[in-house]
Amino acid sequence: MTDKDFIPSTYTTDKTEGKVTYKSPSNIALVKYWGKKEHQIPANPSISFTLDTCATTTTVSYKKLNNKASDFSFDLLFDGRSKEDFKPKISTFLKRTEKYLPFLKSYHFTIETSNSFPHSSGIASSASGMSALALCLMELERELNPNMDSAFFKRKASFLARLGSGSACRSIEGNLMQWGAQKDTQESSDLYAIKYPYKVNPIFNNYQDSILLVDKGSKQVSSSLGHDLMHDHPFAEQRFDQAHKNLTKLKRIFEEGDLLEFIKIVESEALTLHAMMMTSMPYFILMKPNTLEIINKIWAFRESSKTHVCFTLDAGANVHVLYPENEKEKVYQFINNELVAYCENGQYICDQIGNGAEKL
Ligand code: DP6
Repeated sequence: MTDKDFIPSTYTTDKTEGKVTYKSPSNIALVKYWGKKEHQIPANPSISFTLDTCATTTTVSYKKLNNKASDFSFDLLFDGRSKEDFKPKISTFLKRTEKYLPFLKSYHFTIETSNSFPHSSGIASSASGMSALALCLMELERELNPNMDSAFFKRKASFLARLGSGSACRSIEGNLMQWGAQKDTQESSDLYAIKYPYKVNPIFNNYQDSILLVDKGSKQVSSSLGHDLMHDHPFAEQRFDQAHKNLTKLKRIFEEGDLLEFIKIVESEALTLHAMMMTSMPYFILMKPNTLEIINKIWAFRESSKTHVCFTLDAGANVHVLYPENEKEKVYQFINNELVAYCENGQYICDQIGNGAEKL
C-alpha cells in the first residue's frame, strides 16, 4: 500500500453531529524506533508490547459547520479543563492528516481527553493520546463511509496515529506490534504498524511491565529532538542495521520463548538508545543515578533468584521492569523490598501486555 491508498475518493453519507469515545493504551518498545525520515517514516523497524493499564481516553464531539472553515476548528479539554499548550500539537496532527481526512475543516470538534496515569509521571502520553484521537476521527470517517471494512479501519487509524507521533501507530492493536519495513516480514510497512505476524510462545501472552517512576519531571529532551540528532550521528547506520538484525533474531526467540536471549536483546536495545543520546552532538545523559541503581539491582536479583526479570527504558530516566506472569509474586516482592526506594515518592505503576484500543 502507498499513502495514496488512504485518501478517500468519496463519502457515501452525511453526518451533522455526533460523539465518539476511544480508550487507547501506551506501548513499550522492545526494539526501539529512534531516528526518522521526512513524513514520519522511521529510519528502522521497531517492535513493542502494547500496554493495558496506561491509557488515554478521548471523546471527540463533532458538529458540521455551515461552510467549510479556512482553518481547523476545535476546543481541547484535558481532565475537563481547557488546555491551550497542547493545541499546537493537535493542529500539527490535523494539518498532517487533512489530506487523508478531507472532512476535517467541515466540522467543529470538541476533544476531551484524560490519562489513566498521572500527567507528571514522566510517562509519555503521545502514543496513547495520538492513537485515541486518530481512532475517534476514523470513527467519523466510518460514519461517512459505512462500507469501510474493519481491517482497513485499523490500518488507516495506525497510519494516521503515526502522523501524530511515530510510536502511536503501534497502540491501535495488541499485543505485539511491528512497525517499519523489514526484509524478512513482507507485510510490514513504514506507513503503519501490523500485529506481529509470526508464532509467539504463550510465555509472552501475559508479560508484565512494572514502570518505576524514577523522575517524574517533564522530559529533558523531546523525542523529536532525539530523532533529529540521529541525522548526523556517527553511529546512525550501524544502529539502524542493528535494529534490523535484532528483529530477525527475535523471530526465533518469540517462537521458542527463549527468555535468556530475549533479555539480551531488550536490555541491549534500551542501552543502545541511551548510548545514541550520549554520543550525539549535542549529547545528553537521560538516565539518573537511580536508574543505574535499579539496573544493577535487577541484574543482581536475576542472578540470585533465577528469574527472568529484565529492564527496558524509554528516552528518559524511568525504568520498565519486564517479566513473565508466573514470576509475578517474586518480582513484586523484589520491587517492594529493593526498588521502591529509588522511585520518586516511592511511585510505580503495574501494567501488563494488552490487546489494544477499544471503543467505549
Ligand atoms: C524512545 O513516537 O515519541 O519511545 O514520532 O517524534 O512523536 P515522534 O517520536 P515518538 O518516539 C518514541 C521513541 C521511543 C522508542 C519507541 O517507542 O520505539
